[in-house]
Amino acid sequence: MKKGFFVSLEGPEGAGKTTLARRLADWFAERGAEVVLTREPGGTELGAAVRELLLARPMEPECEFLLYLADRAEHTRRVIRPALLAGKVVIADRFADSSYAYQGFGRGLSLAWMRAATEGATGGLVPDLTLLLDLDPEEGLRRSGRTDRLEREALDFHRRVREGYLALAEAEPERFRVIDASRPLERVWRSVERAVEKAWSA
Ligand code: TMP
Repeated sequence: MKKGFFVSLEGPEGAGKTTLARRLADWFAERGAEVVLTREPGGTELGAAVRELLLARPMEPECEFLLYLADRAEHTRRVIRPALLAGKVVIADRFADSSYAYQGFGRGLSLAWMRAATEGATGGLVPDLTLLLDLDPEEGLRRSGRTDRLEREALDFHRRVREGYLALAEAEPERFRVIDASRPLERVWRSVERAVEKAWSA
């Protein structure tokens, strides 16, 4: 059996990320793997408190990134790395690419600064496979039923996030698989399954 495999799921809210992460956990378990399904922000006890802090008030993008990163440091060192060392499969609903896409491309923070800080916080841990569930922001918002209240600025932000994700994927084609999440869930799942099957057996 293949050991210590780290998959992250990325993409906007409303792309089915969380549902697919759960399904993926079952898929690995059915094949005999020990699975840890986790998420950011909030994959540890302290992380859950950071998550509340993040959602509670508006803040400067630098502060926001550093809170996500504090959560990531704790999460990586206490949950993800020990699980990988024990030979488990770790499925993370968001990891460092979320910060690059949202705080970097979305809010304009320096990617070089963010990458250096992330390297220190995580000890350089990078997923073996990153599944990017790509969805047009307008479709995502339509799915969540929030279109009418949406301000122009919010939509522009989500467009930058999407473009950012696609740029990240283009820069690292061996790690990323871009999956068209506008299709029915079953078809999206089949693409996820194919991508994972290939990467896990590699
Ligand atoms: P989710 O729980 O639905 O995945 O949403 C978490 C929110 O946090 C989502 O809007 C993306 C955002 N986020 C960032 O902006 N940067 C990050 O580094 C992470 C992990 C999440």
